[in-house]
Amino acid sequence: MAYSDFQLEIYLNGLADVLPPYSVDVTKLQAAARDLLDDGAYWYVAGSAGSGDTAAANCAAFGRHRIVPRMLRDATERDLTTELFGRTYPAPLALAPIGVQSIVHPYGELATARAAASLGIPAVLSTASSHTLEEVAEAGGPRWYQLYWPHDDEVTLSLLERARKGGYDTLVVTLDTWTLAWRPNDLDRAYLPFLRGTGLAIPLSDPVFRSRLAEPVEEDLNAAIMTWAPMFNGRAHTWDQLPLLRDNWDGPIVLKGIQHPDDARRAADAGMDGVVVSNHGGRQIDGALASLDALPGVAAAVGDRLTVLFDSGIRTGADIFKALALGARAVLLGRPYVWGLACGGEDGVRHVVRSLLAELDLTLGLAGFRSPAGLDPSVLEAR
Ligand code: FNR
Repeated sequence: MAYSDFQLEIYLNGLADVLPPYSVDVTKLQAAARDLLDDGAYWYVAGSAGSGDTAAANCAAFGRHRIVPRMLRDATERDLTTELFGRTYPAPLALAPIGVQSIVHPYGELATARAAASLGIPAVLSTASSHTLEEVAEAGGPRWYQLYWPHDDEVTLSLLERARKGGYDTLVVTLDTWTLAWRPNDLDRAYLPFLRGTGLAIPLSDPVFRSRLAEPVEEDLNAAIMTWAPMFNGRAHTWDQLPLLRDNWDGPIVLKGIQHPDDARRAADAGMDGVVVSNHGGRQIDGALASLDALPGVAAAVGDRLTVLFDSGIRTGADIFKALALGARAVLLGRPYVWGLACGGEDGVRHVVRSLLAELDLTLGLAGFRSPAGLDPSVLEAR
């Protein structure tokens, strides 16, 4: 079935007076989630660093590139399958690692993983998950694990071993969040879910981490929280530490948070397999460049050596088209699927992904392309 068939499905349901349960427009979906969520949870997801300038720039950057459609080139049949790290996926899309999803829906990462599995696309599980690696693995489907890299090597190795056993085949190492940025929306509400024990299911269920505690987690949760926080937060890692991960992870390793071509080159030199050009959705450095503006430079620097992925600001199928044209092999979807999760759990996430992929599929066809492989910067005009 083509992704674009979702369009016909919606119209046909309309003949029986059945409307889509949620909007296909991410902006409207966000507004619906706003009505459902409490202020703390809503702003934790919607908010960003500082003035929100970089978060806004991430989205605005797409408007500076316009698709130049080509005609009379039969693109009726399209193929969105995409190879990443030697594995074939049905579309150039994965779900970005997003922590503490239980603040928007009780099933959180479980619902997200089930939706992704039902579509065959990878869900990247965050170390800040509200459910354990093992629980989320039960959803099946392709799964990747995102590491917040602890400063205790034995804990790191234990997390990697659990991920491997759970069938997570790709390791995504997030670099740009070694300490929390200045986030006014959360500060004004003094809202940080981790300090209340939410989003800590993975470390709290880790045998090596638990061995570091004087009292069992169940008897002294606060002490466990205060042991975990400084273990991964507040101190940066350095390039010379990457061999620890390379030597202890057999599968692909992807560095997330890369924005400079030199850092991308260094990732390739260090034996990494990919990078995610990302600025964490503008949640870390206010005033940083839009992630889309960093993409062409990184792709030019390492596109022939590494798999270049992209996130930060994807809101529509046309955005995915543009990121692919500017050098990404695939994109990670962030906040939009969280709004789907808030509105409808697993079904809501699936709805968002199907909507974006249907729009991408139609955009490709209408612009005259049969597959993402035909895209390059020349299919866009910069404004
Ligand atoms: C994130 N992101 C993130 N990244 C990561 O590597 N580990 C994590 O635990 C989280 N947690 C997280 C929570 C929330 C609420 C958000 C919104 C984001 C960043 C995420 O993976 C991705 O880079 C951004 O969401 C992309 O930006 P947009 O497209 O959502 O604006």
